[in-house]
Amino acid sequence: MKLTIIGTGYVGLPTGVGFAELGNEVVCVDKIAAKIDKLNRGELTLFEDGLDELFRKNVEKGSIRFTLDMENAVKGADVVMLAVGTPPHPVTKEADLQYIYAAAEELAQYLDGYTVVATKSTVPVGTGDEVEAIIRKTNPIADFDVVSLPEFLREGFAIHDFFNPDRIVIGANSEKARSVMLKLYEPFKEKSEFLMVKRRSSETIKYASNAFLAMKIHYINEMADFCEQAGADILEVAKGMGMDSRIGKKFLNPGPGYGGSCFPKDTNAMAQMGKKYGANLNLIETTIAKNDERKAKMGQRVIEAIKNHPEGKIAVLGLAFKGGTDDCRESPAVDIVKEMIKHSDNICAYDPKAIENAKLILGDSIKYANSIEEACKDADVMVVLTEWEDFRNINLAEIKKIMSKAKIIDLRNMLNAEDAKVNGFEYQCIGAKYSA
Ligand code: UDX
Repeated sequence: MKLTIIGTGYVGLPTGVGFAELGNEVVCVDKIAAKIDKLNRGELTLFEDGLDELFRKNVEKGSIRFTLDMENAVKGADVVMLAVGTPPHPVTKEADLQYIYAAAEELAQYLDGYTVVATKSTVPVGTGDEVEAIIRKTNPIADFDVVSLPEFLREGFAIHDFFNPDRIVIGANSEKARSVMLKLYEPFKEKSEFLMVKRRSSETIKYASNAFLAMKIHYINEMADFCEQAGADILEVAKGMGMDSRIGKKFLNPGPGYGGSCFPKDTNAMAQMGKKYGANLNLIETTIAKNDERKAKMGQRVIEAIKNHPEGKIAVLGLAFKGGTDDCRESPAVDIVKEMIKHSDNICAYDPKAIENAKLILGDSIKYANSIEEACKDADVMVVLTEWEDFRNINLAEIKKIMSKAKIIDLRNMLNAEDAKVNGFEYQCIGAKYSA
């Protein structure tokens, strides 16, 4: 099928490459010339595990191309997907829909033949109606349907998730649009569940899912705080809880709070929608407030640990909002470092992929290292902030030799507490207390 994707970010680009790999003819459009130039030179504009190989393969085959020219991209398309940003409004925290609406208005002029316009971006309930109205107003003779096609890709696993979705939700109000979507998603028929729903239900499913996952993380973090006080171990508790299939094992990892481009934005937008529709969303509101509070508390926990030697070097491991990505948007690691900066001017951070993005936020307020060893050299404390697998395998015996003091604050529970203890470290983690 002929597929046009508007927006080449963390959703649009992996989705475009994925559909090209499945045999579709894909065109990706973006407004940023530098991005399109780079992609046309065969270079990726973001890091995603497994994307590079598929990107090269499909560019070489000619099954995906990149352009600034909306007219050229939209004419003749069977499906046009909107995958532009919906960032939170700085004041109201509502999803800012200006990019969606501008794209809808622009694409409307070039629709020819029956086209399905699908919103992949996370958009508030009712946005599909608005997009439909904009297209109809701009091009009254256009033959089209607007469907909601929420994406559930996790950053860092976007390619894996694209090819192995738990479910494909299609929110369409017309039979014709449903059949086009079923054709596009035909390759997933055997391995995924399909759910056909009303457009407004589909828009709600995305927010309700992300808000639920954010609440699950908040819950396990709250239990972790309880365990620290009550002498229990959150890892054992989470394991026991997860064995109940009704609860499930996933998203029970305690940490410094959730972050990223989705959970903070989507929980806030959902809370705003609750207000708009007069529906009480107390659980979500509490989750948002407590998650913000938690990040500040975690920063203070680090400061507390170095209070006897405030000029001591702090080695920070991890700046991305989670492992496997270079993305620092709403990163708890970055927020915690910001809290630490208020009390220390001797912070050195290492992240396998996110240093460049972190520099855009933190600038030269901290130093940056090229390796775990460089960050930890002469440090008083090692602070683990992002769940990169590399950190799980740190050779603690060797690292101890180069550190100034043997102290670890592991806010992701990545390291082995026994190993830390055997090697003489004072070890603090989340949700359990260890004595040296
Ligand atoms: C999320 C959703 O998972 C995905 O379905 C949606 O499409 C986009 O939003 P993503 O933002 O990539 O994906 O990150 P995710 O892996 O869900 O993690 C979000 C945050 O929660 C990270 O900061 C992560 O470290 C944190 N987290 C996650 C925990 O603290 N504990 C957990 O158990 C899981």
